[in-house]
Amino acid sequence: MTETSLPTDGLFEPITIKSLKMRNRFAMAPMTRAFSPDGIPGDDVTAYYRRRAAGGVGLIITEGTYVPDPAVGPDTRVPRLYGENSLAGWKSVVDAVHEEGGQIIPQLWHLGAERGPHPLLNPGVTTVSPSGLALDGTPVGRPFTASDLDELRDAWVAAATNARDIGFDGVELHGAHGYLIDQFLWDRTNVRSDSYGGSLEARTRFPVEVVAAIREAVGEDFAIVYRFSQWKLNAFDARIAQSPDELSVVLKPLVAAGVDVLHPSTRRYWEPAFAELPGADGELGLAGWTKKLTGLPTITVGSVGLDSVFTKALPTDGASNPTNIDRLLRQYENGEFDLVAVGRALLSDPEWVLKLREGRTAEHIPYRNEHRNLLH
Ligand SMILES: Cc1cc2nc3c(=O)[nH]c(=O)nc-3n(C[C@H](O)[C@H](O)[C@H](O)COP(=O)(O)O)c2cc1C
Repeated sequence: MTETSLPTDGLFEPITIKSLKMRNRFAMAPMTRAFSPDGIPGDDVTAYYRRRAAGGVGLIITEGTYVPDPAVGPDTRVPRLYGENSLAGWKSVVDAVHEEGGQIIPQLWHLGAERGPHPLLNPGVTTVSPSGLALDGTPVGRPFTASDLDELRDAWVAAATNARDIGFDGVELHGAHGYLIDQFLWDRTNVRSDSYGGSLEARTRFPVEVVAAIREAVGEDFAIVYRFSQWKLNAFDARIAQSPDELSVVLKPLVAAGVDVLHPSTRRYWEPAFAELPGADGELGLAGWTKKLTGLPTITVGSVGLDSVFTKALPTDGASNPTNIDRLLRQYENGEFDLVAVGRALLSDPEWVLKLREGRTAEHIPYRNEHRNLLH
């Protein structure tokens, strides 16, 4: 059943959050495409994002883009947010999205230990992370020193100011899925014995410092979105926060440091975050808890409009068919979130939002593996 039986009007109300001026509540979720040779987004990347903006999405959150650190990641085809040619490529993407009435923010990304031992980009540079541990616990590269941490903070700030200077409408920090910032939060990948490790408060310190440094550099009005997750690439059942109180310990200092919008990444938007709690508390999703605890505008995400879940980037990844968004609309009516990020459904169907608005959901294009491998 693909037809939505409830009114969708609420999701088409505009919203302004500082520099972000969205015509509706739909965001394109950040999705790595690796179609930018030497880190430079070309005309095909501009056309790809333009098509989604023309298809009615309010905000595009770009694929993960590298911050200027030599040990940022392994891939030469992931776009960068530094260097004249990469920034010129992004400027053309930004202009195209604005021409179509959309807003766009880059997702700033550093992989930390997930860069791995054999990177293609800067192979002579050692991989660095909080404790020199990959997500599966195996040693990789080396732990950060205090001066590494200073340089790293500067790299995030440089990427954010580059984004502002070429006309992006804000930035999103990739603090999810087990990459660098999340490696600080997770007790499996952060076993540091200095003030950046130990308690949950201490593990939150570096992410908070990055946010504060960006806020100071970009000014008060430039929107900062922060993406986080309980799950990791190799552990869908992992948890940073075991309870709402622990979630507060992580989120409140981030908000105090300058985050404007929180983006909890879940794989199914309707799943309870703390199902062990009694009553309604046990039903609330991670977006609902995030909004309840912080009061900040919050983005929900995960299998919106699709009948099967996002899994790791394997070629066997399943196809997924369109389904209705009734549960999402009920949660929205309950005030559990403010924005909705749509991932795979927008890969297969650039006009997904337009078709929803016009009641043409029967025309939504099913998601297939090839959509992951094509830039169309
Ligand atoms: C091809 C692909 C690439 C992705 N790359 C990123 C990424 O760069 N950064 C990120 O935070 N999430 C990434 N994700 C996760 C999505 O942002 C989104 O959270 C996930 O696909 C669930 O949403 P969906 O069910 O609507 O697809 C990626 C997902 C896919 C399918």
